[in-house]
Amino acid sequence: MRSLAGDVIKQAFSQQTDEKLHRRLYAAICSCILEGSLKPATRMPPSRDLAGELTLSRNTVLRVYEQLQAEGYISARTSSGTFVTDSVLDNLDLHPNKAPGAAPEESPRLSDRCLELLGHASASPRQWGAFIPGVPDVAHFPHRVLKKIQDRLARRLRPELLTYDAAGGVNELKEALADYLRTARGVRCSPEQILITEGIHQALDLVTRTLCNPGDNAWIEEPGYWGIKNILRINAVNFSAIPVDEQGMVPPEAGESAPKLIFVTPSHQYPLGSVMSLSRRRQLLFRARETQSWIIEDDYDSEFRFSGQPIPSLQGLEEETPVIYIGTFSKTLYPALRLGYVVLPKQLATPLKKVHNDLYRGGHLLIQAALAEFIREGYYAAHIRKMRQLYSRRRQMLVELINRQLGEHYLGSFSSNAGLHMILQLPAGSDDVLIAQQANAQGLLVRPLSRYYVDEDKRSGLLLGFASIEEHEMAAAFTRLVGIIRVNAV
Ligand SMILES: Cc1ncc(COP(=O)(O)O)c(C=O)c1O
Repeated sequence: MRSLAGDVIKQAFSQQTDEKLHRRLYAAICSCILEGSLKPATRMPPSRDLAGELTLSRNTVLRVYEQLQAEGYISARTSSGTFVTDSVLDNLDLHPNKAPGAAPEESPRLSDRCLELLGHASASPRQWGAFIPGVPDVAHFPHRVLKKIQDRLARRLRPELLTYDAAGGVNELKEALADYLRTARGVRCSPEQILITEGIHQALDLVTRTLCNPGDNAWIEEPGYWGIKNILRINAVNFSAIPVDEQGMVPPEAGESAPKLIFVTPSHQYPLGSVMSLSRRRQLLFRARETQSWIIEDDYDSEFRFSGQPIPSLQGLEEETPVIYIGTFSKTLYPALRLGYVVLPKQLATPLKKVHNDLYRGGHLLIQAALAEFIREGYYAAHIRKMRQLYSRRRQMLVELINRQLGEHYLGSFSSNAGLHMILQLPAGSDDVLIAQQANAQGLLVRPLSRYYVDEDKRSGLLLGFASIEEHEMAAAFTRLVGIIRVNAV
Protein backbone atom coordinates (compact mmCIF):
# COMPACT_ATOMS: atom_id res chain seq x y z
CA MET A 1 0.00 0.00 0.00
CA ARG A 2 1.40 3.43 -0.91
CA SER A 3 1.80 6.06 1.81
CA LEU A 4 3.03 9.62 2.00
CA ALA A 5 6.05 8.49 4.06
CA GLY A 6 6.76 5.84 1.42
CA ASP A 7 6.70 8.48 -1.34
CA VAL A 8 9.07 10.75 0.61
CA ILE A 9 11.51 7.89 1.16
CA LYS A 10 11.23 6.81 -2.49
CA GLN A 11 12.19 10.28 -3.70
CA ALA A 12 15.16 10.50 -1.31
CA PHE A 13 16.21 6.97 -2.30
CA SER A 14 16.29 7.92 -5.98
CA GLN A 15 18.72 10.77 -5.15
CA GLN A 16 21.23 8.56 -3.36
CA THR A 17 24.15 7.22 -5.37
CA ASP A 18 25.72 4.61 -3.12
CA GLU A 19 25.86 1.31 -4.98
CA LYS A 20 25.01 -0.76 -1.92
CA LEU A 21 21.23 -0.78 -1.70
CA HIS A 22 21.00 -1.01 2.08
CA ARG A 23 23.35 1.96 2.47
CA ARG A 24 21.29 3.96 -0.06
CA LEU A 25 18.12 3.23 1.83
CA TYR A 26 19.73 3.98 5.20
CA ALA A 27 21.10 7.32 3.97
CA ALA A 28 17.77 8.21 2.34
CA ILE A 29 15.74 7.62 5.51
CA CYS A 30 18.32 9.37 7.75
CA SER A 31 18.29 12.45 5.55
CA CYS A 32 14.45 12.52 5.46
CA ILE A 33 14.38 12.41 9.27
CA LEU A 34 17.16 14.92 9.82
CA GLU A 35 15.74 17.35 7.23
CA GLY A 36 12.29 17.01 8.74
CA SER A 37 10.43 15.58 5.74
CA LEU A 38 9.72 12.58 7.96
CA LYS A 39 8.60 14.26 11.15
CA PRO A 40 8.82 12.86 14.71
CA ALA A 41 6.00 10.35 15.39
CA THR A 42 5.43 9.69 11.65
CA ARG A 43 4.45 6.08 11.01
CA MET A 44 7.04 4.31 8.87
CA PRO A 45 5.72 2.29 5.94
CA PRO A 46 5.51 -1.44 6.74
CA SER A 47 8.71 -3.14 5.56
CA ARG A 48 6.83 -5.32 3.04
CA ASP A 49 5.16 -2.28 1.40
CA LEU A 50 8.39 -0.27 1.25
CA ALA A 51 10.27 -3.21 -0.22
CA GLY A 52 7.57 -3.51 -2.92
CA GLU A 53 7.65 0.21 -3.75
CA LEU A 54 11.44 0.36 -4.04
CA THR A 55 11.77 -3.10 -5.58
CA LEU A 56 14.13 -4.21 -2.82
CA SER A 57 14.12 -7.41 -0.87
CA ARG A 58 12.17 -7.24 2.36
CA ASN A 59 15.29 -8.37 4.21
CA THR A 60 17.15 -5.27 3.03
CA VAL A 61 14.40 -3.04 4.41
CA LEU A 62 14.25 -4.98 7.67
CA ARG A 63 18.01 -4.74 8.07
CA VAL A 64 17.91 -0.97 7.56
CA TYR A 65 14.95 -0.57 9.95
CA GLU A 66 16.88 -2.57 12.53
CA GLN A 67 19.92 -0.32 12.14
CA LEU A 68 17.82 2.84 12.38
CA GLN A 69 16.10 1.49 15.44
CA ALA A 70 19.39 0.63 17.13
CA GLU A 71 20.58 4.19 16.45
CA GLY A 72 17.38 5.71 17.80
CA TYR A 73 15.99 7.21 14.58
CA ILE A 74 12.87 5.05 14.68
CA SER A 75 11.19 2.93 17.32
CA ALA A 76 8.79 0.02 17.13
CA ARG A 77 5.65 0.08 19.26
CA THR A 78 4.13 -3.23 20.07
CA SER A 79 1.24 -3.95 17.70
CA SER A 80 0.91 -0.41 16.31
CA GLY A 81 3.92 -0.23 13.95
CA THR A 82 7.22 1.61 13.62
CA PHE A 83 7.50 5.36 14.12
CA VAL A 84 10.08 8.13 13.77
CA THR A 85 11.21 8.77 17.35
CA ASP A 86 10.40 12.04 18.98
CA SER A 87 13.95 12.57 20.26
CA VAL A 88 15.60 12.86 16.85
CA LEU A 89 14.40 16.22 15.66
CA ASP A 90 12.40 17.33 18.64
CA ASN A 91 15.54 18.75 20.10
CA LEU A 92 17.02 20.17 16.97
CA ASP A 93 16.16 22.86 14.54
CA LEU A 94 18.58 22.34 11.71
CA HIS A 95 17.03 25.11 9.63
CA PRO A 96 16.01 27.69 12.22
CA ASN A 97 15.84 30.63 9.83
CA LYS A 98 14.25 28.94 6.86
CA ALA A 99 11.11 30.72 5.66
CA PRO A 100 8.03 28.51 5.23
CA GLY A 101 7.81 27.30 1.64
CA ALA A 102 11.47 28.10 0.88
CA ALA A 103 13.22 25.75 -1.55
CA PRO A 104 14.60 22.63 0.14
CA GLU A 105 18.25 23.03 1.07
CA GLU A 106 20.85 20.38 0.51
CA SER A 107 21.32 18.34 3.65
CA PRO A 108 24.46 19.49 5.48
CA ARG A 109 27.43 17.19 5.13
CA LEU A 110 27.85 16.06 8.69
CA SER A 111 30.42 13.65 10.04
CA ASP A 112 29.40 10.06 10.78
CA ARG A 113 30.03 10.75 14.48
CA CYS A 114 27.73 13.74 14.36
CA LEU A 115 24.97 11.74 12.64
CA GLU A 116 25.42 9.05 15.25
CA LEU A 117 24.96 11.62 18.01
CA LEU A 118 22.00 13.29 16.29
CA GLY A 119 20.31 9.92 16.05
CA HIS A 120 20.51 9.70 19.84
CA ALA A 121 20.10 13.37 20.78
CA SER A 122 18.42 13.24 24.17
CA ALA A 123 18.57 16.63 25.91
CA SER A 124 15.01 17.63 26.64
CA PRO A 125 13.76 20.53 24.47
CA ARG A 126 11.99 21.94 27.54
CA GLN A 127 13.88 22.50 30.76
CA TRP A 128 11.29 23.93 33.15
CA GLY A 129 7.95 22.40 33.99
CA ALA A 130 6.15 19.82 36.14
CA PHE A 131 8.18 16.66 36.86
CA ILE A 132 11.24 17.60 34.77
CA PRO A 133 13.94 15.27 36.11
CA GLY A 134 17.25 16.59 37.36
CA VAL A 135 16.37 20.29 37.47
CA PRO A 136 16.61 21.95 40.90
CA ASP A 137 14.17 24.61 42.09
CA VAL A 138 16.13 27.53 40.67
CA ALA A 139 13.55 30.01 41.98
CA HIS A 140 15.05 29.58 45.47
CA PHE A 141 18.61 30.49 44.52
CA PRO A 142 19.89 33.47 46.61
CA HIS A 143 20.90 35.66 43.66
CA ARG A 144 21.09 38.80 45.77
CA VAL A 145 23.72 37.33 48.06
CA LEU A 146 25.93 36.15 45.19
CA LYS A 147 25.46 39.45 43.35
CA LYS A 148 26.53 41.42 46.45
CA ILE A 149 29.72 39.38 46.70
CA GLN A 150 30.35 39.82 42.98
CA ASP A 151 29.81 43.60 43.21
CA ARG A 152 32.23 43.75 46.12
CA LEU A 153 34.88 41.91 44.08
CA ALA A 154 34.21 44.07 41.03
CA ARG A 155 35.01 47.23 43.02
CA ARG A 156 38.60 46.07 43.56
CA LEU A 157 38.86 44.00 40.45
CA ARG A 158 42.00 42.02 39.63
CA PRO A 159 42.53 42.23 35.85
CA GLU A 160 43.29 38.47 35.67
CA LEU A 161 39.64 37.84 36.47
CA LEU A 162 38.73 39.31 33.09
CA THR A 163 41.35 37.55 30.98
CA TYR A 164 41.57 33.96 29.67
CA ASP A 165 41.94 31.36 32.37
CA ALA A 166 45.37 29.74 32.49
CA ALA A 167 45.26 27.79 35.74
CA GLY A 168 42.28 25.46 35.44
CA GLY A 169 40.10 27.80 37.45
CA VAL A 170 40.38 30.53 40.08
CA ASN A 171 42.66 29.44 42.94
CA GLU A 172 40.29 30.57 45.70
CA LEU A 173 37.53 28.37 44.28
CA LYS A 174 39.83 25.37 43.96
CA GLU A 175 40.91 25.85 47.59
CA ALA A 176 37.34 26.24 48.86
CA LEU A 177 36.26 23.20 46.86
CA ALA A 178 39.16 21.03 48.09
CA ASP A 179 38.07 21.75 51.70
CA TYR A 180 34.41 21.16 50.89
CA LEU A 181 35.04 17.90 49.00
CA ARG A 182 37.33 16.56 51.71
CA THR A 183 34.82 17.13 54.49
CA ALA A 184 31.47 16.68 52.73
CA ARG A 185 32.37 13.98 50.20
CA GLY A 186 35.42 12.22 51.65
CA VAL A 187 37.43 13.06 48.51
CA ARG A 188 41.23 12.90 48.94
CA CYS A 189 42.61 15.90 47.09
CA SER A 190 44.69 19.05 47.09
CA PRO A 191 43.63 22.26 45.27
CA GLU A 192 46.27 21.53 42.59
CA GLN A 193 44.34 18.43 41.55
CA ILE A 194 41.15 20.39 40.91
CA LEU A 195 40.15 21.66 37.48
CA ILE A 196 37.10 23.90 37.09
CA THR A 197 35.01 23.08 34.00
CA GLU A 198 31.81 24.24 32.39
CA GLY A 199 29.88 21.49 34.10
CA ILE A 200 30.12 17.72 34.04
CA HIS A 201 29.55 17.46 30.29
CA GLN A 202 32.70 19.41 29.48
CA ALA A 203 34.63 17.39 32.06
CA LEU A 204 33.49 14.11 30.48
CA ASP A 205 34.42 15.32 27.01
CA LEU A 206 37.87 16.38 28.20
CA VAL A 207 38.54 13.10 30.00
CA THR A 208 37.35 11.05 27.01
CA ARG A 209 39.45 13.00 24.51
CA THR A 210 42.56 12.92 26.61
CA LEU A 211 42.45 9.30 27.76
CA CYS A 212 40.90 7.43 24.81
CA ASN A 213 41.79 6.84 21.20
CA PRO A 214 39.00 6.35 18.63
CA GLY A 215 37.95 2.69 18.73
CA ASP A 216 38.83 2.21 22.41
CA ASN A 217 36.25 0.70 24.71
CA ALA A 218 34.46 2.10 27.77
CA TRP A 219 32.05 0.56 30.26
CA ILE A 220 28.91 2.47 31.05
CA GLU A 221 25.98 1.64 33.30
CA GLU A 222 22.86 -0.08 31.90
CA PRO A 223 20.56 1.79 32.21
CA GLY A 224 22.67 4.91 32.25
CA TYR A 225 23.06 8.59 31.62
CA TRP A 226 22.60 9.61 27.96
CA GLY A 227 25.18 12.40 28.30
CA ILE A 228 28.16 10.05 28.65
CA LYS A 229 26.92 7.91 25.73
CA ASN A 230 26.78 10.88 23.38
CA ILE A 231 30.17 12.13 24.50
CA LEU A 232 31.65 8.69 23.78
CA ARG A 233 29.86 8.61 20.40
CA ILE A 234 31.19 11.99 19.25
CA ASN A 235 34.68 10.86 20.27
CA ALA A 236 34.29 7.51 18.41
CA VAL A 237 34.80 5.48 21.59
CA ASN A 238 32.87 2.19 21.74
CA PHE A 239 30.99 1.27 24.85
CA SER A 240 29.65 -1.82 26.58
CA ALA A 241 26.51 -1.35 28.66
CA ILE A 242 27.12 -3.15 31.96
CA PRO A 243 23.98 -4.01 33.97
CA VAL A 244 23.32 -2.42 37.36
CA ASP A 245 21.42 -4.02 40.23
CA GLU A 246 20.49 -2.79 43.69
CA GLN A 247 24.22 -2.66 44.56
CA GLY A 248 25.25 -0.68 41.47
CA MET A 249 27.28 -1.77 38.43
CA VAL A 250 27.92 -5.51 38.24
CA PRO A 251 31.49 -5.75 36.88
CA PRO A 252 31.65 -8.49 34.22
CA GLU A 253 33.78 -11.59 34.68
CA ALA A 254 37.37 -11.31 33.54
CA GLY A 255 37.59 -11.90 29.79
CA GLU A 256 35.51 -8.91 28.69
CA SER A 257 37.92 -6.63 26.80
CA ALA A 258 39.68 -4.16 29.09
CA PRO A 259 37.99 -0.78 29.10
CA LYS A 260 39.94 2.48 29.05
CA LEU A 261 37.17 4.16 31.04
CA ILE A 262 34.54 2.91 33.47
CA PHE A 263 31.75 5.43 33.99
CA VAL A 264 29.73 5.08 37.21
CA THR A 265 27.37 7.04 39.47
CA PRO A 266 28.08 5.26 42.79
CA SER A 267 26.34 7.62 45.24
CA HIS A 268 23.03 7.60 43.35
CA GLN A 269 22.87 5.47 40.23
CA TYR A 270 21.45 7.40 37.33
CA PRO A 271 18.61 6.85 36.61
CA LEU A 272 17.52 3.94 38.87
CA GLY A 273 18.77 5.37 42.17
CA SER A 274 20.72 2.52 43.79
CA VAL A 275 23.78 3.17 45.97
CA MET A 276 26.91 1.20 45.11
CA SER A 277 27.70 -1.21 47.96
CA LEU A 278 31.10 -1.32 49.64
CA SER A 279 31.92 -4.75 48.22
CA ARG A 280 31.08 -3.57 44.68
CA ARG A 281 33.23 -0.48 45.17
CA ARG A 282 36.18 -2.62 46.18
CA GLN A 283 35.51 -5.05 43.34
CA LEU A 284 35.41 -2.22 40.81
CA LEU A 285 38.61 -0.63 42.13
CA PHE A 286 40.29 -4.03 41.95
CA ARG A 287 39.16 -4.58 38.34
CA ALA A 288 40.20 -1.07 37.30
CA ARG A 289 43.68 -1.57 38.74
CA GLU A 290 43.94 -4.96 37.10
CA THR A 291 42.92 -3.69 33.65
CA GLN A 292 44.64 -0.29 34.09
CA SER A 293 41.38 1.51 33.48
CA TRP A 294 40.26 4.87 34.81
CA ILE A 295 37.01 4.99 36.74
CA ILE A 296 35.00 8.17 36.20
CA GLU A 297 32.89 8.86 39.28
CA ASP A 298 30.00 11.16 38.35
CA ASP A 299 28.82 12.59 41.68
CA TYR A 300 26.09 14.75 40.14
CA ASP A 301 23.49 15.06 42.94
CA SER A 302 24.99 13.38 46.01
CA GLU A 303 24.34 16.43 48.23
CA PHE A 304 20.68 15.46 48.32
CA ARG A 305 20.22 12.47 50.60
CA PHE A 306 17.14 12.77 52.77
CA SER A 307 17.83 10.12 55.42
CA GLY A 308 20.87 8.38 56.85
CA GLN A 309 24.44 9.47 56.41
CA PRO A 310 25.84 10.98 53.17
CA ILE A 311 27.50 8.32 50.99
CA PRO A 312 31.25 9.08 50.80
CA SER A 313 32.91 9.13 47.41
CA LEU A 314 34.45 6.09 45.73
CA GLN A 315 37.51 8.22 45.01
CA GLY A 316 38.32 8.57 48.71
CA LEU A 317 37.75 4.94 49.69
CA GLU A 318 41.46 4.08 49.47
CA GLU A 319 44.77 5.88 48.91
CA GLU A 320 45.60 6.72 45.27
CA THR A 321 42.51 5.21 43.68
CA PRO A 322 42.35 5.10 39.85
CA VAL A 323 39.34 7.42 40.02
CA ILE A 324 38.59 10.71 38.30
CA TYR A 325 35.98 12.40 40.47
CA ILE A 326 33.55 14.79 38.76
CA GLY A 327 30.95 17.07 40.33
CA THR A 328 28.75 20.01 39.41
CA PHE A 329 27.03 23.12 40.75
CA SER A 330 24.12 22.46 38.35
CA LYS A 331 22.05 20.62 40.94
CA THR A 332 23.09 22.45 44.12
CA LEU A 333 22.84 25.95 42.59
CA TYR A 334 21.48 26.17 39.03
CA PRO A 335 22.31 24.52 35.68
CA ALA A 336 22.78 27.71 33.65
CA LEU A 337 25.73 28.64 35.88
CA ARG A 338 27.67 26.01 33.85
CA LEU A 339 30.28 25.35 36.50
CA GLY A 340 31.59 21.98 37.57
CA TYR A 341 34.85 20.47 38.78
CA VAL A 342 37.12 17.50 38.27
CA VAL A 343 39.46 16.04 40.86
CA LEU A 344 42.31 14.61 38.82
CA PRO A 345 44.73 11.89 39.95
CA LYS A 346 48.08 13.64 40.47
CA GLN A 347 49.73 12.27 37.32
CA LEU A 348 46.87 13.54 35.14
CA ALA A 349 46.56 17.05 36.58
CA THR A 350 49.17 18.84 34.46
CA PRO A 351 48.40 17.32 31.04
CA LEU A 352 44.62 17.56 31.38
CA LYS A 353 44.74 21.16 32.57
CA LYS A 354 46.94 22.03 29.60
CA VAL A 355 44.54 20.38 27.15
CA HIS A 356 41.58 22.07 28.82
CA ASN A 357 43.32 25.40 28.47
CA ASP A 358 44.12 24.86 24.79
CA LEU A 359 40.73 23.44 23.82
CA TYR A 360 38.18 25.41 25.78
CA ARG A 361 39.91 28.59 26.98
CA GLY A 362 38.15 28.70 30.35
CA GLY A 363 36.45 31.80 31.66
CA HIS A 364 33.70 32.96 34.08
CA LEU A 365 36.49 33.87 36.49
CA LEU A 366 34.75 36.68 38.34
CA ILE A 367 31.78 34.43 39.12
CA GLN A 368 34.22 31.70 40.20
CA ALA A 369 35.87 34.11 42.63
CA ALA A 370 32.45 35.15 43.95
CA LEU A 371 31.44 31.51 44.34
CA ALA A 372 34.59 30.84 46.37
CA GLU A 373 33.49 33.50 48.87
CA PHE A 374 29.91 32.21 48.76
CA ILE A 375 31.26 28.84 49.89
CA ARG A 376 33.74 30.26 52.44
CA GLU A 377 31.10 32.48 54.05
CA GLY A 378 28.78 29.48 54.61
CA TYR A 379 26.06 30.41 52.10
CA TYR A 380 26.64 27.30 49.99
CA ALA A 381 26.17 24.86 52.87
CA ALA A 382 23.13 26.83 54.10
CA HIS A 383 21.52 26.77 50.64
CA ILE A 384 22.08 23.02 50.32
CA ARG A 385 20.57 22.45 53.79
CA LYS A 386 17.50 24.51 52.92
CA MET A 387 16.99 22.80 49.55
CA ARG A 388 17.52 19.35 51.05
CA GLN A 389 14.57 19.95 53.39
CA LEU A 390 12.42 21.31 50.57
CA TYR A 391 13.18 18.40 48.21
CA SER A 392 12.69 15.87 50.99
CA ARG A 393 9.13 17.20 51.55
CA ARG A 394 8.41 17.15 47.83
CA ARG A 395 9.73 13.63 47.42
CA GLN A 396 7.68 12.42 50.36
CA MET A 397 4.58 14.00 48.87
CA LEU A 398 5.20 12.31 45.52
CA VAL A 399 5.74 8.93 47.18
CA GLU A 400 2.41 9.34 48.99
CA LEU A 401 0.64 10.27 45.75
CA ILE A 402 2.07 7.21 43.98
CA ASN A 403 1.08 4.92 46.85
CA ARG A 404 -2.41 6.36 47.09
CA GLN A 405 -3.29 6.67 43.42
CA LEU A 406 -1.36 3.80 41.83
CA GLY A 407 -0.04 1.48 44.54
CA GLU A 408 3.29 0.67 46.12
CA HIS A 409 4.36 -1.61 43.26
CA TYR A 410 4.70 1.49 41.04
CA LEU A 411 7.63 2.75 43.16
CA GLY A 412 10.96 2.00 41.47
CA SER A 413 12.51 -0.92 43.32
CA PHE A 414 16.06 0.52 43.50
CA SER A 415 15.10 4.06 44.48
CA SER A 416 16.94 5.36 47.52
CA ASN A 417 15.71 8.32 49.53
CA ALA A 418 17.82 10.82 47.59
CA GLY A 419 18.30 12.99 44.53
CA LEU A 420 16.02 15.17 42.45
CA HIS A 421 14.00 12.50 40.64
CA MET A 422 12.52 9.07 41.22
CA ILE A 423 11.42 6.16 39.08
CA LEU A 424 7.78 5.35 38.60
CA GLN A 425 7.79 1.73 37.53
CA LEU A 426 5.18 0.77 34.91
CA PRO A 427 3.79 -2.72 34.40
CA ALA A 428 6.12 -4.75 32.14
CA GLY A 429 5.31 -4.25 28.46
CA SER A 430 3.78 -0.77 28.93
CA ASP A 431 4.80 1.71 26.25
CA ASP A 432 6.58 4.28 28.40
CA VAL A 433 7.62 6.28 25.32
CA LEU A 434 4.01 6.76 24.28
CA ILE A 435 2.96 7.62 27.85
CA ALA A 436 5.79 10.16 28.15
CA GLN A 437 4.87 11.68 24.76
CA GLN A 438 1.26 12.15 25.80
CA ALA A 439 2.31 13.54 29.18
CA ASN A 440 4.81 15.95 27.58
CA ALA A 441 2.04 17.21 25.28
CA GLN A 442 0.15 18.20 28.44
CA GLY A 443 3.19 19.97 29.93
CA LEU A 444 4.14 17.06 32.25
CA LEU A 445 7.84 16.67 31.46
CA VAL A 446 8.42 13.06 32.53
CA ARG A 447 10.93 10.96 30.57
CA PRO A 448 10.63 7.29 29.55
CA LEU A 449 12.96 4.92 31.43
CA SER A 450 13.35 2.53 28.47
CA ARG A 451 15.25 5.26 26.59
CA TYR A 452 18.10 5.02 29.10
CA TYR A 453 18.90 1.45 28.03
CA VAL A 454 21.17 0.39 25.19
CA ASP A 455 20.32 -3.31 25.03
CA GLU A 456 16.95 -4.92 24.35
CA ASP A 457 16.12 -5.93 27.91
CA LYS A 458 14.55 -2.69 29.15
CA ARG A 459 12.40 -1.81 32.14
CA SER A 460 9.34 0.30 31.45
CA GLY A 461 8.92 3.34 33.68
CA LEU A 462 9.00 7.11 33.99
CA LEU A 463 11.59 9.45 35.45
CA LEU A 464 9.68 11.86 37.64
CA GLY A 465 11.46 14.97 38.86
CA PHE A 466 10.11 16.30 42.15
CA ALA A 467 12.58 19.09 42.89
CA SER A 468 11.15 21.91 40.80
CA ILE A 469 7.42 21.39 41.26
CA GLU A 470 5.66 23.35 44.02
CA GLU A 471 3.78 21.26 46.56
CA HIS A 472 0.46 22.98 45.83
CA GLU A 473 0.71 22.04 42.13
CA MET A 474 1.90 18.47 42.55
CA ALA A 475 -1.34 16.64 43.32
CA ALA A 476 -3.25 18.05 40.33
CA ALA A 477 -0.35 17.44 37.94
CA PHE A 478 0.10 13.89 39.23
CA THR A 479 -3.62 13.13 38.84
CA ARG A 480 -3.41 14.17 35.18
CA LEU A 481 -0.40 11.90 34.72
CA VAL A 482 -2.24 8.99 36.35
CA GLY A 483 -5.09 9.51 33.85
CA ILE A 484 -2.62 9.06 30.97
CA ILE A 485 -1.00 6.04 32.61
CA ARG A 486 -4.38 4.33 33.24
CA VAL A 487 -5.35 4.62 29.57
CA ASN A 488 -2.01 3.34 28.26
CA ALA A 489 -0.34 1.00 30.78
CA VAL A 490 -0.90 -2.71 30.18
C1 LIG B 1 24.05 11.70 35.83
C2 LIG B 1 24.28 13.12 35.38
N1 LIG B 1 25.52 13.56 35.16
C3 LIG B 1 25.75 14.82 34.73
C4 LIG B 1 24.73 15.71 34.50
C5 LIG B 1 25.00 17.07 33.93
O1 LIG B 1 25.79 17.87 34.70
P1 LIG B 1 26.26 19.31 34.18
O2 LIG B 1 25.05 20.20 34.17
O3 LIG B 1 27.26 19.73 35.18
O4 LIG B 1 26.86 19.16 32.81
C6 LIG B 1 23.42 15.30 34.72
C7 LIG B 1 22.32 16.24 34.45
O5 LIG B 1 21.16 15.95 34.54
C8 LIG B 1 23.19 13.98 35.17
O6 LIG B 1 21.94 13.55 35.37
